[in-house]
Amino acid sequence: MLTLQETSSVMQRRPRRNRKSQAIRNMVEETRLSVKDFIFPMFLIDGVNQKVEVASMPGIYRYSLDLMLKEIEDCVNLGIMAFDIFPAYPESKKDKYATESHNPETFYLKAIHKIKTTFPEIVVMTDVAMDPYSSDGHDGLVENGKILNDETLEILGKMSLAQAHAGADILGPSDMMDGRVGFIRNVLDENGYTDVSIMSYTAKYASAFYGPFRDALDSAPKSGDKKTYQMDSANYYEAMIEADLDTEEGADFLMVKPALAYLDVIRLLKDNSNLPIAAYNVSGEYAMIKASAERGWLDGERAMLESLLSIKRAGANVILSYFAKEYALIARD
Ligand code: PBG
Repeated sequence: MLTLQETSSVMQRRPRRNRKSQAIRNMVEETRLSVKDFIFPMFLIDGVNQKVEVASMPGIYRYSLDLMLKEIEDCVNLGIMAFDIFPAYPESKKDKYATESHNPETFYLKAIHKIKTTFPEIVVMTDVAMDPYSSDGHDGLVENGKILNDETLEILGKMSLAQAHAGADILGPSDMMDGRVGFIRNVLDENGYTDVSIMSYTAKYASAFYGPFRDALDSAPKSGDKKTYQMDSANYYEAMIEADLDTEEGADFLMVKPALAYLDVIRLLKDNSNLPIAAYNVSGEYAMIKASAERGWLDGERAMLESLLSIKRAGANVILSYFAKEYALIARD
């Protein structure tokens, strides 16, 4: 056993020196969050003067366009410059083929156009998948209980074109059909939308953490689950197969979703790709923190900051998070 004196003479390295004050901790901080890292996902409904809280997502609302424009303005004033807009449709507008998704008169596409013309400087992202418009509640076309891949691509192509035409800056194919990035890229390019970006949901896992989102959009599958197209949580290397394909097919960003239970996958993609990596801090991840904070079981603000920081530390360049505004309200950068 060394005496205390002997110990301190051999201990030339003392990592605690770099933790001794807030000023030093700030200097050696390896990861810093910024409002610029975020994309704020928002839920849109038809009508006017509507603002309805999502029961399982305290602080998150479905807005009609007029109130969404106000909310976006608020966020822009806080420095948030990117928004991912998801529509919630009533059952009466849904059908097997998600026809409403490319109806030029539909409220979602008109709203995208209005948002983009009101705030030309922001980034508007849209979601490409059939589920909000599908009477089956699946991301692809269902025939005899099966999700048809190639037939779905045709529908996604029409949806993408309609969203690009409405003014979307980034399309987010969240459907996980094979070949959809290349298919969508071709459709866009053939129609002159070479400037419209694709943020591919590259490694989107079949996750329990999407529950509150499906409440927000009333978009849960009517039968079966999404395991024949979304990835198995057990798989890690398979994410690189998806990443390589999306890269070859022309994706501008690769996304991992959910974020917190898949930090290893975020790091895998970051280390093996030169494309910017996005991570989706999903509805269930938001709800968990909110629910325990409401009960006083943990400090909601600290848990939020720690989660967001972990996602960035894992390698995400872009974070889609329902916490974006809350973060912006307390951020000082
Ligand atoms: C569907 C879609 C989902 C989310 C984004 N796009 C849900 C799903 O696949 O069932 C989830 C987002 C979240 O949970 O916050 N195409």
